[in-house]
Amino acid sequence: MPTAFITGATAGIGAAFARRLASDGFDLVLLARDAERLERSAADLSGRYAVRAETLRADLSTEEGLTAAEERARAGVDLLVNNAGFGNRGVFLDVPVADELTMLKVHCEAVLRLTHAALPGMLERGRGGVVNVSSAAAFATRGTYGASKAWVVNFSQGVAADIAGRGHGRVRVMALCPGFVHTEFHERAQMDVSDVPKFMWLEQDTVVDTALRDLRRGVQVSIPGAQYKAIVGISRLLPRELIARMSSNTGRKYD
Ligand SMILES: NC(=O)c1ccc[n+]([C@@H]2O[C@H](COP(=O)([O-])OP(=O)(O)OC[C@H]3O[C@@H](n4cnc5c(N)ncnc54)[C@H](OP(=O)(O)O)[C@@H]3O)[C@@H](O)[C@H]2O)c1
Repeated sequence: MPTAFITGATAGIGAAFARRLASDGFDLVLLARDAERLERSAADLSGRYAVRAETLRADLSTEEGLTAAEERARAGVDLLVNNAGFGNRGVFLDVPVADELTMLKVHCEAVLRLTHAALPGMLERGRGGVVNVSSAAAFATRGTYGASKAWVVNFSQGVAADIAGRGHGRVRVMALCPGFVHTEFHERAQMDVSDVPKFMWLEQDTVVDTALRDLRRGVQVSIPGAQYKAIVGISRLLPRELIARMSSNTGRKYD
């Protein structure tokens, strides 16, 4: 059975990937920090879908966690979903610089190191995929969060180009750029998103469906939802200063 390695697999989008991939017959490697929640998720998924679910308790903002995750990725996985992530409360100068650096570790360093560890085995086997979960915020200017997610898009497209033609052309690298999704993300960041209009919200399962369909089709930057395809398309035509002003406010009130 193929194996999928999902970071941030116990909640939100990562948990939706885990459910969907288990139902598709993937064995799972689930990574997060909360050991009890990891064990519960693994027991639930292996019981429900008759797959193997391995757990890896690791904090991707630490060297120890990154090394453990790299080792698991290097040992061989067929699909890597670099999904773990979080938001910081407040705008740039409100956030302690240590928290911003932690974000870069989890959103950028972990994505880089796990992709680097997983890809050689995939290329050797001539099949595999890496989904790097970015955000629609990658196309706006939205503090360190938006900048880190823009890095994920740029990095993923660069790596996809670098491996083109290798692995019999059957190894894919894709950035996934969802807009607002109902998960624990905003509550964890104590973000008040009550004024985000209903049409801007995406369902976790829709995001995962779109991601896996786009990965199969060889799409390099997947943007779930017609509303976000339109928003991203229009934003590319507008001056960056205007985008910065607009996106600095949207969905960024704090409790
Ligand atoms: N929700 C949205 O509106 C939205 C929109 C666009 C993009 N995204 C992106 O989607 C991804 C998933 O977010 P989500 O909304 O599903 O968030 P979520 O519901 O808060 O889930 C986050 C997951 O990541 C894990 N995690 C957080 N920090 C970690 C760390 N340092 N090391 C290891 N695991 C860690 C959490 O488990 P533990 O706490 O146990 O570690 C949890 O499993 C993120 O990259 C986020 O930026 C979300």
